[in-house]
Amino acid sequence: MSRIAHRGAILNFRGDPGDRDDPCSYQYWEQGALIVCGGKVEQVGPAAELLSDAALPVIDHGSRLLLPGFIDTHIHYPQTDVIAAGGRHLLEWLERYTFPAEQRFADPEHARAVAHFFCDELLRNGTTTAQVLGTAHSVSVNAFFEVAAGRALRMIAGKALMDRLCPDGLRDVSAADAERDTRTLIERWHGRDRLHYAITPRFALTSSEAQLESCGRLAREFPDVFIHSHLAENRQEVSEVCAAFPQRRSYLDVYDHYGLLRERATFAHCIYLDAIDRGRLAASGAGAAFCPSSNLYLGSGLFDIATTDAAKIPFALATDVGGGSSFSMLRTMGEAYKVAQLTGQILTPLRAFYLATLAGARQLRLQDRIGSFTAGHEADFIVLDPAATPLLARRMDQCRDLSERLRLWMILGDDRAVAHTYVLGRRACFKEMLGAKPPS
Ligand code: GUN
Ligand code: ZN
Repeated sequence: MSRIAHRGAILNFRGDPGDRDDPCSYQYWEQGALIVCGGKVEQVGPAAELLSDAALPVIDHGSRLLLPGFIDTHIHYPQTDVIAAGGRHLLEWLERYTFPAEQRFADPEHARAVAHFFCDELLRNGTTTAQVLGTAHSVSVNAFFEVAAGRALRMIAGKALMDRLCPDGLRDVSAADAERDTRTLIERWHGRDRLHYAITPRFALTSSEAQLESCGRLAREFPDVFIHSHLAENRQEVSEVCAAFPQRRSYLDVYDHYGLLRERATFAHCIYLDAIDRGRLAASGAGAAFCPSSNLYLGSGLFDIATTDAAKIPFALATDVGGGSSFSMLRTMGEAYKVAQLTGQILTPLRAFYLATLAGARQLRLQDRIGSFTAGHEADFIVLDPAATPLLARRMDQCRDLSERLRLWMILGDDRAVAHTYVLGRRACFKEMLGAKPPS
């Protein structure tokens, strides 16, 4: 079994730093070591203690920072080709750009080619796990899982369920057909390799009551399968949902009524919720995906970090590509920071990094496998370069502590700052930068 040590600066979270950088929430070694054995974390700690065995091979990352791979809790792989497309607001953007692009995923060759590009892009950006929407076509999900399995990635995905208010080329023939297709996909993929299935009603507007009922049935039948949808993203969307479901108290109550609020359920956006909704979401064990670049790009609104915290709703960061305008979780952290600024709130760099790593693992109930450097966990990790660009290098030289360094990666960083991405201890992506030598 291969056993190797990585030497460098190391950051590891144990909990949520909150807005005061709780010192018990993280570990940091400026001269650290991570020992990986058979694709799993064996040990992490100070280099001086861990690297006494001269026979142990060591990859020296110098002053670069090692941390667990990023986890993107909400992203659409079929929207790779609509990123940065026009469309002022959500519903117009869906109709004009997104739905036409998604119709092409009936073609397995197209789906496969995009899935490869998408996984390359995730890894270039340091994202090792994502919760991914496919299109309404089962072949899109098969293509994605085949590509993810080929790269040994831990991934969650599901077929978008949609049986109304969408073009023919995306509409499920019937709720019963879509339920049967979902069951087939769950049986084929859930728990195979490092893959998990998510029951994925796209959003309340594109599912009939019969379809939402069938989602609830699937959720009961498969309690350890994920649930993944959109919620309360845009004012017009919210008012159309309320009009379509007049007997329900709120948008959230639509999902609640059909039994879709539970652990392992993630709802993207969660901007327009009231106190009752928030209490109910928290009590259910479901979580929110905070998608700042998408919310800003589509002009949807500002996620309220403080109110979400006060209600004890778990949340984590997500790109929401292609409504989101970057695959980079570093850029996404920077946008989250600006949303906090606009709402008069605090997002410390340390917490932003937590929200992009361990928070996602916890929300997805995968924290016993990924999201931190804990002995026995899967060794998915990344190496951040403090000198990835001349400006980063210059500003990093002026930093006094970890928090200042993280702030620079968060505000100035993007894919260029991710020097290497490791999946199960194997280098999945390496970038030769500024004359750096590839590690052996
Ligand atoms: N709501 C329903 N579908 C979508 C989508 O594809 N992107 C976003 N951002 N919101 C949605
Ligand atoms: Zn989305």
